[in-house]
Amino acid sequence: MHHLADSARINKKTGRKSKYLRCFPSKPTLVGKPEKGQVVTNETEQNRTKLSKVSCSVIGGVFNLALNQFPNTVRIETTNACNAKCVICPHRKMQRPVGYMDDALYNRIIDECAEYNCDDVHLHNFGEPLLDKHIAQRVRYAKRKGVKRVTIFSNGSLLTADKANELMDAGLDEIKISFDGATEEEFERIRLGLKFDTVAANIKELVKIRDLKKFPLKIKVACHSTSDKGKTMQSLENCVDEFCFGKVHNWADFEINHAAKSKIRKPCSRVWRTFTVLSNGKAALCCIDYEGKVVLGDVNKASIFEIWNNKSYKEMRLLHRTAQQDQITICKNCTKSFW
Ligand SMILES: C[S@@+](CC[C@H](N)C(=O)[O-])C[C@H]1O[C@@H](n2cnc3c(N)ncnc32)[C@H](O)[C@@H]1O
Ligand code: SF4
Repeated sequence: MHHLADSARINKKTGRKSKYLRCFPSKPTLVGKPEKGQVVTNETEQNRTKLSKVSCSVIGGVFNLALNQFPNTVRIETTNACNAKCVICPHRKMQRPVGYMDDALYNRIIDECAEYNCDDVHLHNFGEPLLDKHIAQRVRYAKRKGVKRVTIFSNGSLLTADKANELMDAGLDEIKISFDGATEEEFERIRLGLKFDTVAANIKELVKIRDLKKFPLKIKVACHSTSDKGKTMQSLENCVDEFCFGKVHNWADFEINHAAKSKIRKPCSRVWRTFTVLSNGKAALCCIDYEGKVVLGDVNKASIFEIWNNKSYKEMRLLHRTAQQDQITICKNCTKSFW
């Protein structure tokens, strides 16, 4: 089941927690080392620990109060295959076997989401969902079962006019197309293997088809890395409904220079709100856990309800609420678990 990180946090002589910087890396890739020139005193470290505990206890307490018996969002990885090698994404080094979710398993997941009135179903996780030939059929099934909002994140390279029509006819509610870089050169440097012209043309065509059909599909563009937000928007002629500019994170263990640098812990809302099912049916800790290292259950053997309320999930929430994320392999260095 889940694997806790081995940690040498308890001083054997004093029985106290180590004051070493290990739990609070200044950069995700520099675990256990202070930044160059940085003086780390016990006092600094103690203050960080105190702030982390307060931050986690207060926010985690609120998250606990808002916790539902069924996740608010269920993210289903219908495939973990991908046709790109984006430099900000560790997909190219993923060791998990590439697979496509079994239809029966998928339908069972949707049936349960519908039973518990789960409003948000995401048909993507770690891979490119449009490589899944059944994707439109899966959208249709979820909509027919009454799921309120079905969303897909896509790299946009396979979003032809036919695919756009198919997805809208199936009832897709929202699509977020990833688009990094302000120029063609920058895009193709970051989103390695994808063509700027193809993706930009697909997005514009999608908007045109949506408008012609008068279909209520929300079309958003997600950008995590660009040298110029204005230019990025201009390159798509500002045609989409929304541009979402996010920050680059470190995928817990991926070397990325410009990820968050804070040392104060925060509890991660994902363990209270989002359930992630990998293509083989394993329930992973979150979308960041791209290798499925922290498995909290198996949807082939238990219901989402059972897994969401099981001992492992409760333990994850407790560790986040008590600022002990360093005990969880994935959360230990994940930039999402620091302010
Ligand atoms: C992992 S992808 C999966 C869906 C699809 N293949 C795509 O590219 O949209 C989901 C989102 O994560 C983003 N992403 C990849 N690496 C990231 C990183 N290091 N930090 C933040 N977002 C990242 C992608 O750009 C994309 O918007
Ligand atoms: S960001 Fe998306 S398209 Fe790019 S490599 Fe990762 S999964 Fe594939």
